[in-house]
Amino acid sequence: MSLRLRLSLLFTLGIAIAIGIAGMVFLAQLQSGLNSALDETLRARGDAVTTRLAATQPTARPDGGDQRGDYRGEFSESEQVTQVLTPEGAVLESTAGPATLLTAAQLKRASEGSLFFTGSIEGERVRMLAMPARRAGDEVIAAVGESTGVIEDAQTRARTAIWAVGGSAVAVAGFGAWLVAGAALHPVTRMRRRLTNITEHSTDARLRVPRTRDEIASLAEAMNGLLDRLQRALARQRGFVADAGHELRTPLTALKAELELAARPGRDRETLNMAISAAAADTERLIRLAEDLLLLARADEGAEFLQARPITLSDLVAASVRSSEATAATRTISMELDADPSIRIVGDPDRVRQVVDNLLGNALRHAPEGSAVALNVRTATGDGERVAVIEVSDRGPGFPPEFLPHAFERFRRADAGRARTQGGAGLGLAVVASIANAHGGRARAENRPGGGARVWVEFPLHRPRGHSRGRDHL
Ligand SMILES: Nc1ncnc2c1ncn2[C@@H]1O[C@H](COP(=O)(O)OP(=O)(O)O)[C@@H](O)[C@H]1O
Ligand SMILES: [Mg+2]
Repeated sequence: MSLRLRLSLLFTLGIAIAIGIAGMVFLAQLQSGLNSALDETLRARGDAVTTRLAATQPTARPDGGDQRGDYRGEFSESEQVTQVLTPEGAVLESTAGPATLLTAAQLKRASEGSLFFTGSIEGERVRMLAMPARRAGDEVIAAVGESTGVIEDAQTRARTAIWAVGGSAVAVAGFGAWLVAGAALHPVTRMRRRLTNITEHSTDARLRVPRTRDEIASLAEAMNGLLDRLQRALARQRGFVADAGHELRTPLTALKAELELAARPGRDRETLNMAISAAAADTERLIRLAEDLLLLARADEGAEFLQARPITLSDLVAASVRSSEATAATRTISMELDADPSIRIVGDPDRVRQVVDNLLGNALRHAPEGSAVALNVRTATGDGERVAVIEVSDRGPGFPPEFLPHAFERFRRADAGRARTQGGAGLGLAVVASIANAHGGRARAENRPGGGARVWVEFPLHRPRGHSRGRDHL
């Protein structure tokens, strides 16, 4: 059932119930008003009859049970009845025929005090008042009655009026609700049509926000916000794929050239060896690139790619330093490790090692010959929590200041021309940030006051909180 129909029906039902209740209350009020007016009349007439009876002089009564009554015709035209009875039920006077209008029980109760009841005479409902009276010194029962026909007529007319007026009010309200709901929901229909037409090729399409400033307008705004975010994410993904393709092409082209060179006839053994080791180096670079891309893609998907367990950071950093010793020695760079051996985090050792290797690799590449690269493992307070910090600093040129805010972005290199020959594809720091985020931590970089770069990562000291928090890339 459509929302429009549901709203209209609900509204109509509400109105019908309200009018119904109001009508019933009105009818009940009318009835009780009319009844008490009628009872008032009966009481006045009863009093008049009692007074008249009290003034009656005693007359000789024939003996025996056959009492002479005063019967004045049938049920009178004015639809009023009066009957005077002995307490035993014999009719002494009557305007409604010789039959007694009271049952034995009613007679008994009426002899004790006034009694209102509703009876029927010749099929017509009559409201009666019976009360004790005295007639020539004898106890009698005076009964007066009034037809309820007038009351019933008034009620029937009121009921008819309520049905007619209430029914048309409900119909009008229902129709109005149908129109209003239709007008209110029209923008929703329009938005739905527009949304179904938006594809990945029309990412700049947006919904028209109605000027109503209501829930539907804020829904449209929220939808547009979502479309903005999706568009940005899509643009980023497309850029990522394009960059990845570009980065893959360079080593692949080099690889192809080396293989073609090696395949030429008449190569001596030495040239062949050189070509093969160059090809192997390019292959190595391709593998690293593919691994980095895979890691970033999985982090983007929000996949659980961490195999976390408790690790001692000082051991891990020391291992990374050992494996970089040969590289450092070629440029007489010394590595100074200052690590607190008690610091443990819960994390994926391979991924954390990758972080340290990337940072150390960058530092060794940028550090001047004969300088020192410092590695530091300590705890600190970040965002109000104790965190473990791994920091790598060098005495190189540092980051160009305008590049610093983008250092952790994908495929970003400060000096693309130079870095392409020496360094990687500009994914190293992006991978570092992704891994830190996946552990619930973060990565930061700055230039040291005395020159050189300082790059550090923070990991929570307790369990990682999942990788969805604080991700830099969607
Ligand atoms: N220790 C550092 N000192 C100076 N510049 C650095 C340092 N580390 C990284 N950079 C700059 O940041 C860029 C991005 O680093 P990274 O993401 O590791 O990419 P890559 O190493 O593949 O070039 C590098 O190209 C380099 O220009
Ligand atoms: Mg690097």
